[in-house]
Amino acid sequence: MRAQVAIIGAGPAGLLLGALLHRAGIDALIVEQRSADHVLGRIRAGVLEQTTVDLLDAAGVGERMHREGLLHDGIELCFGGTRHRIDLKTLTGGKHVMVYGQTEVTRDLMHARDAAGLKTIYEAEHVSLHDFDGAHPRVRYQQAGATHEIECDFIAGCDGFHGVSRASVPAGAIQVHEKVYPFGWLGLLSETPPVSPELIYSNHERGFALCSMRSLHRSRYYLQCPIDDKVEAWSDEAFWAELRRRLDREAAESLVTGPSLEKSIAPLRSFVAEPMRFGRLFLAGDAAHIVPPTGAKGLNLAASDVGYLSRALAAFYAGSEEGLNHYSERCLRRVWKAVRFSWWFTSLMHRFPETGVFGQKLQAAELDYLVHSTAASTVLAENYVGLPLRD
Ligand code: APR
Ligand code: PHB
Repeated sequence: MRAQVAIIGAGPAGLLLGALLHRAGIDALIVEQRSADHVLGRIRAGVLEQTTVDLLDAAGVGERMHREGLLHDGIELCFGGTRHRIDLKTLTGGKHVMVYGQTEVTRDLMHARDAAGLKTIYEAEHVSLHDFDGAHPRVRYQQAGATHEIECDFIAGCDGFHGVSRASVPAGAIQVHEKVYPFGWLGLLSETPPVSPELIYSNHERGFALCSMRSLHRSRYYLQCPIDDKVEAWSDEAFWAELRRRLDREAAESLVTGPSLEKSIAPLRSFVAEPMRFGRLFLAGDAAHIVPPTGAKGLNLAASDVGYLSRALAAFYAGSEEGLNHYSERCLRRVWKAVRFSWWFTSLMHRFPETGVFGQKLQAAELDYLVHSTAASTVLAENYVGLPLRD
């Protein structure tokens, strides 16, 4: 088999890259180790920056998102028993975010790929990357006992944090930077109306809580929990009772509860691998970096990476290597800013056992400053809606 670009992984990064390359007239094959249903079964965040919305439009997959997605002009911060609104739109000169689940983005990308007759190889086993330090890289995989090989010009490693792409790079060629947080997020999805029209990020002495949504009748809630908690130990009733305790009185009283459709615990981590290019292998999305979910930057970073990569590959086939040569540096400038923001927002909103009362007093002072200073609110707002894509 031959393709100009072999993409490893059919998560949002791989699928969006495939769609953008198709629009640019570049043929790409996607190799994914799981089934499409398995990929769609993963519940992830759901807040899209305008730059991500623009890329999905450019890829021709924005139609349902514009129809069903919810535009949010603000978020609420809850602390000391009171909610304070951060007016994203006013503070950023008219910007907003689109609330639309990553699962739906992935579904739209899969449908568009099928409709265009583009090939995704699902349930590929033992995927391996070869010769990306030369001009003729290859990807091998097994399926139904047979070994297959793809000859390509480039490999895009879009296979997430646990993927094979980053692991294929010689240890001496890559640097990793990592911070693991001492707690997790317990998430619950339910077919219930959201407690409030906008997202609520709550700093509470019992721990952080987040009220998010997937639609006007489907809600997504999170609780900070000990990292070693077992999801089976959390009944739905225990979840709802704990969420109520961590919200202001009005929200607690108006919260509509119901059976969970999904419940899971995720660890929180900041991770960056540098560089993001190794010869003809380019890492994108979670394969290269992870941010904690506070602020929902993960999917947006994956989208901006593949935005840069698709442009760079189109320029390569038109005769310029400039984009490829600057890919890693361009991505990482943006990545580190999102890593900083996600770390800061996480540090501000969660309970850190080791920082004691002094740490809590600092958080309270910063939150008070944040909601009463236009300068401080603007810093939060412009990072939340997303920093501009730079050349
Ligand atoms: N071979 C082929 N595919 C693989 C391999 C492998 N060895 N290892 C992993 N994959 C697949 C996974 O099954 C998954 O479908 O790569 C895909 C990676 O998808 P994601 O983990 O979703 O990562 P990415 O596409 O970079 O998405 C960015 O944004 O909200 C955040 O972390 C969240 O997933 C999200 C991310
Ligand atoms: C979500 O809806 O899952 C979500 C929203 C905002 C976040 C994180 C997760 O900051």
